[in-house]
Amino acid sequence: MDGSSLKGRRLALGVGGGIAAYKCCDLVRELGRAGATVRVAMTPAAQQFVTPLTFQALSGQPVLTDYFDTSKEAVFGHLDLARWAEGFIVAPATSDLVARLRAGMANDAVTTSVLAFRGPVLLAPAMNVAMYENRLTQENLKALLSEPRFRAVGPGVGPLADGETGAGRLAEVGEIVEAAAKLFAGGPLAGAQVLVTAGPTREAIDPVRFLSNPSSGKMGLALAKEARARGAEVTVVLGPVGEAVAGARDGLDVVDVVTADQMAAAVLSRIERVDYFLAAAAVSDYRPREISPQKIKKSAAPETLALVRTADVLAEASKRVAGKARRPLLVGFAAETEKLVENASAKLTAKGLDLIVANDVTAPGAGFATDTNRVTVIDRSGKVLETSGSKREVAARVWDELVKRRRQ
Ligand code: CTP
Repeated sequence: MDGSSLKGRRLALGVGGGIAAYKCCDLVRELGRAGATVRVAMTPAAQQFVTPLTFQALSGQPVLTDYFDTSKEAVFGHLDLARWAEGFIVAPATSDLVARLRAGMANDAVTTSVLAFRGPVLLAPAMNVAMYENRLTQENLKALLSEPRFRAVGPGVGPLADGETGAGRLAEVGEIVEAAAKLFAGGPLAGAQVLVTAGPTREAIDPVRFLSNPSSGKMGLALAKEARARGAEVTVVLGPVGEAVAGARDGLDVVDVVTADQMAAAVLSRIERVDYFLAAAAVSDYRPREISPQKIKKSAAPETLALVRTADVLAEASKRVAGKARRPLLVGFAAETEKLVENASAKLTAKGLDLIVANDVTAPGAGFATDTNRVTVIDRSGKVLETSGSKREVAARVWDELVKRRRQ
């Protein structure tokens, strides 16, 4: 996938209440043909022009119409679309919808989702020419477009549905698709190759038992998602994680592995082709020396499990690329319970890293299986940043640091 492609992208389409809404049926199909998954949200006015069922059938995805519907809230909550999407298209962006977006209102499924969305937004305005030329509409559009993540396509000039002629036609479907693809082309990581490890590994003892840890994979997946939002091509080597993060895999190129050795093989076969490697997995440091082919029976004597070290995925990857012309930026994670900066810095040096993200796993709101994290980012010259928040917010701060260090 190149940076400007829609292949595998998750797009939200917010449909406004204008006659041009019918053209969005075609738009959904064309975006689908380009390889994107599209989820539609509709204003109440839009539903006067096209039924939600039409969009559901064309997109093959649930349609968000009413954010007060408690039955739907359970399966498709009012913030889910904003969290799920990588890009947002608003078409037709009517004068009323533009005004409400500009005012930061959240009074229907479209405005609520756009307001809660952090990524790039493409507005495709369509309305009567007088409404379009009205100073208020122009001011509203200008205000929205002053934010770099907002872009516009159209409106086209020509005969309008209301009999007048002028600017106000919805841009052609092909133009909207092209502009949507460009939403992802200009990101700070456009064209960059990113490799992330995430989740735990699992080392079998016998057919029914294993050694592992409670890593959820959330931090690694948040880093991957953030990199994609900034235009990178991302591969995640993911250990066995639970259903809780099933949705977070959407749109990511995921290589599923179970053991540390499998994770090492998946990483080492890719490490020489990437620009960034982030090792967020909680890799099991040991595995049983032997895997019993049969279930081990309890016996009267106390059992001792003989262990051997697993491959250190990050250290091996670092060794593999040391001194190479195309050496990726290497980022490790350190879970510590004491002497945070000291211990993490030692790991940074030992594994030849550029950056290490350390967290005190004893701190509240940090560590395994939480939705938040509190981290200290350290480079070769010492502490560079302390940050806390949702794992996605923390991921964004880590990427801010990495983008600054991007190799030219
Ligand atoms: N790591 C890895 N492969 C391993 C072990 C760790 O890739 N077999 C990576 C982790 O993904 C993380 C970093 O190395 O980025 C953590 O280093 P490590 O020394 O394993 O940290 P801890 O497990 O916290 O080490 P210790 O038990 O010594 O505190």
